[in-house]
Amino acid sequence: MRYGHFDDQNREYIITRPETPLPWINYLGCEAYFGLISNTAGGYSFYRDARLRRLTRYRYNHAPFDVGGRYLYLRDNDNGKFWSPSWQPTRTQLDHYECRHGMGYTVIGSTCRKIAAQTTYFVPLGETLEIWKLKVTNQRKQPARLSVFSSIEFCLWDAQDDATNFQRNFSTGQVEVADGVIYHKTEYRERRNHFAYFACSEKLAGFDTQRDTFLGAYRGWDNPAAVERGKSFNSVAHGWAPHGSHHVKVTLKPGQTKEIIFVLGYHENPADQKFDPADSQTLNKNSVKPVVAKYLDAKNVAMAFEQLRSYWGGLLGKYQVQSPDVHINRLVNIWNACQCMATFNMSRSASFYESGIGRGLGFRDSNQDLLGFVHMVPARARERILDIAATQLKSGGAFHQYQPLTKRGNNDIGSGFNDDPHWLILGVAAYLKETGDWSILDQPVQFENEPGSEQPLYEHLRRSLNYTLERLGPHGLPLIGRADWNDCLNLNCFSDTPGQSFQTTTNKEGKVAESVFIAGLFVLAAKELAAIAARRGLAKEVTQYLAEAAKMEQVVFQHGWDGEWFLRAYDDSGRPIGSKVCPEGKIFIESQGMCVMAGLGLNNGKARQALNSVHQHLATKHGIVLQQPAFSKYYIHMGEISSYPPGYKENAGIFCHNNPWIIIAETMAGNGTRAFDYYTRINPSAREKIGDLHRCEPYVFAQMIAGKDAPTHGEAKNSWLTGTAAWTYYAATQWILGLRTEYDGLRVDPCIPAKWKGFKVTRVFRGDTFNIEVRNPKAVEKGVRRILLDGVEISGQLLRPTGEGRSHNVVVEMG
Ligand code: GLC
Ligand code: GLC
Repeated sequence: MRYGHFDDQNREYIITRPETPLPWINYLGCEAYFGLISNTAGGYSFYRDARLRRLTRYRYNHAPFDVGGRYLYLRDNDNGKFWSPSWQPTRTQLDHYECRHGMGYTVIGSTCRKIAAQTTYFVPLGETLEIWKLKVTNQRKQPARLSVFSSIEFCLWDAQDDATNFQRNFSTGQVEVADGVIYHKTEYRERRNHFAYFACSEKLAGFDTQRDTFLGAYRGWDNPAAVERGKSFNSVAHGWAPHGSHHVKVTLKPGQTKEIIFVLGYHENPADQKFDPADSQTLNKNSVKPVVAKYLDAKNVAMAFEQLRSYWGGLLGKYQVQSPDVHINRLVNIWNACQCMATFNMSRSASFYESGIGRGLGFRDSNQDLLGFVHMVPARARERILDIAATQLKSGGAFHQYQPLTKRGNNDIGSGFNDDPHWLILGVAAYLKETGDWSILDQPVQFENEPGSEQPLYEHLRRSLNYTLERLGPHGLPLIGRADWNDCLNLNCFSDTPGQSFQTTTNKEGKVAESVFIAGLFVLAAKELAAIAARRGLAKEVTQYLAEAAKMEQVVFQHGWDGEWFLRAYDDSGRPIGSKVCPEGKIFIESQGMCVMAGLGLNNGKARQALNSVHQHLATKHGIVLQQPAFSKYYIHMGEISSYPPGYKENAGIFCHNNPWIIIAETMAGNGTRAFDYYTRINPSAREKIGDLHRCEPYVFAQMIAGKDAPTHGEAKNSWLTGTAAWTYYAATQWILGLRTEYDGLRVDPCIPAKWKGFKVTRVFRGDTFNIEVRNPKAVEKGVRRILLDGVEISGQLLRPTGEGRSHNVVVEMG
């Protein structure tokens, strides 16, 4: 069954049935204020940090799914019937329903009892607030006397504490209501100087700020007492659960439309100006009032919405493709880029699968996210790189995660994931290749956020590489530590205690378990650092890094090659993992992808062999599984990977994040048809037609699709916040379409399906705009015969920007 369709022209996905298999969500906000919103208005909001500055509550793992949201109710005052125009939470049958998820906004519209309602939700640029603009139209032949109720439940800021510390929380909640604006100010009386507010453009008939008064005892959001009786209680929260609800009465003539604006926002006061009068406990509202007034004005709202639309037009305009395949077009041009923005902002912290409590920004995750984001807002990518690098340990290692609000390493998760440091090199390399901004390398950056420890960013990269050289195992391969990219391959963990975290429990001081994956990553990073060092004129370092890379390659072929594919690792007893000799888990995807991407085996046939082994043993019609055979039981010496039932997550699931590694590797080996086929297998738009199996949103990639060992093979989970976003974007734009950023320019090197006759790309690169037409008259997969730049043939395949903001016409002939 189909639940909706793409509207590529408007850059929207339109959902036409509210009961999607899972909540199909969107993200609001792209700077500091964020929200998640489902197709039925579920979701929550926060300022910067989903754990530490949560504005509204949401109930994870609730039945029904997706409870807590930006709810509105319409009530017919003549007969008392009421419904939610977003379907949830009353789930009243609607005569028409449509949810349009767009770039940074969502519009939910419906018709019920001849009343049409349409709500536009978005976060204006530069503000820490969200707007809900409701438009109600009376389609009846008689006047309609209606009540509108809004409803949100405030979170007491720290989402973790909010959900657990009830002995305190039931007593701390505080609000103020003034001039129709509801202020949530829990803990403002003591150490917080921030508060939330919820305002409405209309004169109120009433309000509620105490959740349980609004709802009534034993009632849910589907049937609030205030809505049922058609009158707010004007409740003021003292403790318990602060809530925000406005009640507005409107009478509409036949055909009449009315717009009502709600503004939910976050605001900070200077610490010495918290109260007004100063010696009172009353919230100082002076600086927030103009903001509220501005956005309760329909003209300003309309302008802010237009600004958001054109902002996104600009971001997406940096890379636009027209190819014969609609799925790659809409993903690259619209949704995959949008998903990259979400992963850049949120890493893996806040989605409908990630509670926003457990994880801040991951060191390795955020660095990889840069790959898909850096071309959109390079200045923010720069800032992110410096923030991440400042959490790096002096040893070159990394805190595995850090909190976006404090920008400090998160000690709860610890460190010792031995792949982490290399991703910083790759992140910085991606930034340099996009921008040519070499000055970043000289920027002084702290270690462990310690004042006085500043060193140029370049020194951080050196230490990242050395980290591995100082941690080599018995075969000369990198020690794996707690885990490498695969968080769940825990070779030093040996956990036998139920519920113990594989991620954080004390590990053996592992001096034996090694990772072939890190070896590949090391080679890739060392080559990048050598290229960077060369441009800094550091000849000795260049030689050294290239020598280390060559040595590591040799070690990999000597101890990391299993005959037909790359091994995955050695365990704590020195036994191979990912080898024919293993009873299960004989071949893994990660080392094939990473080693070939690092160039290993490209000139001795082994890359081809490894990729063919992937094709033979790991590829399924829904994507490439992580390993085979799946682990049928728990292996204590391998850890979390074998804790998942076969076919799920890291135990032979299609862990989409690493599929693009194989896609890229295939393009390096010249196999465009196969690369594109792999890409299409996990492309959510191409999977739209199997929506009931896939279940997740058809417009964004999912972290995982159940593998062939799972009873639900083909079912996706954990959409939106996944490294898949950046890697698929990078694979599609830079390797399949082949417009690859390099230190000195933009390389044109497509690797496409032979049947493609060509394609066009517009790429904005370092200020210049390249309008590129690729022709493929000989039906090849790779290879460029000649390139005309503004009518003149160039030698080589590199487009060099002038930096003068010029437009160029480029014709590329493959063959
Ligand atoms: C999750 C993590 C990522 C890790 C991957 C594989 O996506 O966020 O850091 O590499 O799982 O375990
Ligand atoms: C679990 C997940 C893995 C993720 C890790 C990080 O182990 O399976 O994908 O990376 O948690 O918290």
